[in-house]
This record gives sequence, structure tokens and C-alpha cells, in this order.
Amino acid sequence: MKHFINLKDISSRDLKQIIIDAKRRKKLRKKLSTLEVDKGAPLKGKLLIQMFEKSSLRTRLSFYLAIKQLGGGTLTLRSNELHLGQGGESIADTAKILSTYGDGFMLRTDNDKKVESFKKYLSIPVINGLSPSSHPTQVLSDVFTVEEIKKKPISKLNICWIGDSNNVLDSLIAASVKFSFKLSIGCPRKFEPGTKVRNWVIKNKKKIFIYNDPKKAALGADVIFSDKVISLNDKVNKKKKIAQFKKFKINKKLMGHAKKDCIFLHCLPRGNEVTDDIFLGKKSHVWQQALNRVHVQKSILLYCFGKLR
Ligand code: CP
Ligand code: NVA
Repeated sequence: MKHFINLKDISSRDLKQIIIDAKRRKKLRKKLSTLEVDKGAPLKGKLLIQMFEKSSLRTRLSFYLAIKQLGGGTLTLRSNELHLGQGGESIADTAKILSTYGDGFMLRTDNDKKVESFKKYLSIPVINGLSPSSHPTQVLSDVFTVEEIKKKPISKLNICWIGDSNNVLDSLIAASVKFSFKLSIGCPRKFEPGTKVRNWVIKNKKKIFIYNDPKKAALGADVIFSDKVISLNDKVNKKKKIAQFKKFKINKKLMGHAKKDCIFLHCLPRGNEVTDDIFLGKKSHVWQQALNRVHVQKSILLYCFGKLR
């Protein structure tokens, strides 16, 4: 049984296999409609239980379509509607029931420890659908999107992140080690990645490049990523933090420091970290990026169910 919790805990080989499988499956689906099942229905009869403690549009829909297209089904729970959410039932007992009724569990939570507790008590695979320290399904899908658009292995590209040091960036940093790509980060000094993730990079004998000047981070980039300055349930003075990111807004001028054919990606939802002309412009591939999550979730599910070929 394989879990999908943090990219840093999954081997490069497995992550690359997931991407290869997703590429193949996407190609094979070209003529199929939304709910038609992939040939062979590899997850026929399987139930994925999804639980959201925070809002979600893309992750929820992409897992719904992913399991359906593989021949299985899904059920979505909100923790506040369970006994667990009211504190009346333990994670251990909840996990036991989930393992008895379902075949896989996808969790979006505000608490990294909760993901680990579920892992401890579940006897079915758990997928992290976003936690404070990680958004692994998003970032693996983003690697897929970059390679699809650039038609090159990501290891040959300069990847840039301009924005907050959040869960998506932590997973992107893990991906930069696993896929060996150059990652330049532009953010205010106060919002640089934490020592835990930086030490992990050093321990893996890799390097990330951090600049407090967004122009320097964008210089020569093939891809610029961004995300909201204020993440879900970010407990900060929002006005103050947004003001601190003022010069890190992605606009035409900043994109001008990157390569001419640089693309813009963003996991969505967006805030005011990017101008409309960039977000909706020719360099932006955010809608393709969002839809690709379906294809990559499918291969993540197959990996977890031990069915990745
Ligand atoms: N990008 C992403 O995870 O979107 P949702 O929060 O809508 O799932
Ligand atoms: N960093 C964002 C990602 C949303 C998909 C958040 O945690 O809210």
C-alpha cells in the first residue's frame, strides 16, 4: 500500500512513473467524453472517500473525475458533518470505519499531524489533498503541465516562483530536488522558505536560489509560477502582508525579465498577486494546468492502488 502525502517522501522513480502514465492516459482519452471509463477500468469497484476541512473546487472535481474515469466511484465528506468534526469520535475509530467502507482516502486539512494520524490508523492509502506544509498532487500535476507545454523534461528548464512561501512552494521545492530542475524564488526576506525545507534541500545535496528582488528571480525563467499571498486560513494581518508583496506582483514588466517564451502558471484560486493581462494573456496556461490535474490524479490513484504499469 502506498500513500501520497509529501513529494519528498516518494522516490524520483515513482514520481516520474506517475507522470509517464498520466501522459499516456491523457493521449488515449482524446476521443472519450467526460465520464467515459478508460479501457480496462483499472479501478472498477473501488471507492475513494474524500474529506475536505477547507474549501476546494479543483481538487474535489479532479479526484471525482479521476476515479470515475478509472471505473470507480467517490464520496465526499465534510468533517464538520461527522462525529470526528465535533470531537466526539477519535481519528483511530474514524479511520477504521473509512478503511472498512472505502478503498482510498483523500484528505484536505489545516493540520499536518492529522494527515499523519490518519496514515497511522488507516489500512487504505491516504492522499494529501493540501495541508499547511504540502500540496503534492498540485505540484506533480504542474510538472506534467510544464513538460507538456515546453515539450522538454523539466530538468532542462529554469523554473521561477514569485510569491509567498506556502504549501505549494514547499512541494515545488521538493519537486525541484526529485526532478532536478533549477528553482529561483522571489519573495520578501520576511517570507522566505523556512529552515526545515531549506535544510532538507541541503541534505539532498541540491540548491534553491532565493532573491528578495523579483526581477532577479525572473531573469531567464522558462516558467513563472505564483499563488495567492494569503492562503486558505492564513492567520495574518492580510492588509499588511499584501502590502509587503506589492513589488512582487506579476505584471508585464516583470515577465519581461524572463525568457521571451516564458509561460505563466498558477494553481488557482487567484488573489491580486498577478495582473489580469498576464493571468488572462497569451503566456498564461492556467486553464490547461487546472484540467491536467484530472489526468495526474488518475495516475496518482493508480500508484496508491498498486496498479501503475
Ligand atoms: N488548486 C487547488 O487545489 O484548487 P482548489 O483549492 O479549488 O482545490
Ligand atoms: N496556497 C494556497 C493553495 C490553494 C490551492 C492555499 O493553501 O490556500
